Amino acid sequence: MMKFPQDFLWGSATSAYQVEGDNVNSDWWQWEKEVGKEKSGSACRHYEFYEQDFDLAQSLNHNSHRLSIEWARIEPEQGKFSQEALGHYLEVILALKRRNIEPIVTLHHFTNPRWLFERGGWEEKESVVYFLRYCDFVVRALAKHVRYWITINEPTIYISHAYIFGAWPPQVKSLFRSKKVQNNLIQAHIKAYRQINKIYKELNLASPFISISQYTQSYVACRNNFRDRFAASFRNKYYNLAIIDTLARHKALDFIGLNYYSRQLVELKRWGIGNLAWDVCQNSHHPVKKNSLGWDIYPQGLLDLLIKLKKYRLPIIITENGICTSDDNLRWEYIYSHLRNIYLAMEKGVDVKGYLYWSLLDNFEWDKGFAPRFGLIEVDYNTQKRTVRDSARKFSIICKTGILANE
Ligand code: FCB
Repeated sequence: MMKFPQDFLWGSATSAYQVEGDNVNSDWWQWEKEVGKEKSGSACRHYEFYEQDFDLAQSLNHNSHRLSIEWARIEPEQGKFSQEALGHYLEVILALKRRNIEPIVTLHHFTNPRWLFERGGWEEKESVVYFLRYCDFVVRALAKHVRYWITINEPTIYISHAYIFGAWPPQVKSLFRSKKVQNNLIQAHIKAYRQINKIYKELNLASPFISISQYTQSYVACRNNFRDRFAASFRNKYYNLAIIDTLARHKALDFIGLNYYSRQLVELKRWGIGNLAWDVCQNSHHPVKKNSLGWDIYPQGLLDLLIKLKKYRLPIIITENGICTSDDNLRWEYIYSHLRNIYLAMEKGVDVKGYLYWSLLDNFEWDKGFAPRFGLIEVDYNTQKRTVRDSARKFSIICKTGILANE
């Protein structure tokens, strides 16, 4: 029997654009129109149905919930802040508090106001100033009710998908431009970290807990030789840890928000930057089960990673971990095996404070559209009907008891 601490945070995560629907002033909305991929449309209409959705989270014994605020709603035009949108998010937070669910609030989860995008987005230094102004407006209003903040979700994914692979808006493929974005995002976090702390002091509130959500993968050497191990360790250092290193050095992290889904097999066929940095081994050796997007399921990687993070001496919250699948038994197996590995890491002295499954609801999976089903709760997009999955019920027992039974 594995018993988690009494005050462990149990719950799930969403992001505004993926569940709310009709985020018409966001850069993604514009891009969907132009590029003609599957459109987010009214998504899960969570902007309207949040009370019902939180009733479900409460009935599933969640004691915490991660959500994000849509900057494009708060500041639909440059410098014009919407009291109405702010009031909405205050209501959302209070709806969680009424249900004894701790809100964990993300300020930037991939999407931007269109006006920012038109001004060059995160490539321009001014983006940092604009972001801080938006943070100030939001944090001042919500500080009293929120203790946990995630400034920026997965900077490395945002940078790679939007500025290196060219898959997401603005579909740039330039290492040079991606570097500028990276610098600005790092600056934005460090400055927001200080600013949010200042606001809490001014308002005489206990210090908040602030982090980013860092996307991680387990980089696994294909063969047990020097080349593959070197390449795997290079990727781990560069993709998993580099930003955490920088932010920790600036003392701008109160905990590590960790997103973990999968592994990447690394085989260094020849020495060269492509091989070292991004080629993924296509062989089918070391096969494992996969999610419906073809990502390897590799729970042991979470243990390996948590142990690597021990050196930072910071608490860790798993801010995302989940699976898209049509097989709900596999979803349960995924949750169970990842929790088991978290527990093993805690036994080895890693300070994990919480686990948020991605996601509460099926939702709009960016350029992959609505097909991937990540939810604890199934959404019928025609009727907006919610159906709680069996895996969610099994997870709810762990949320209630803190006990992971041996299976
Ligand atoms: C993460 C994102 C989240 C969701 C999951 C599946 O990279 O933060 O929005 O798309 O992947």
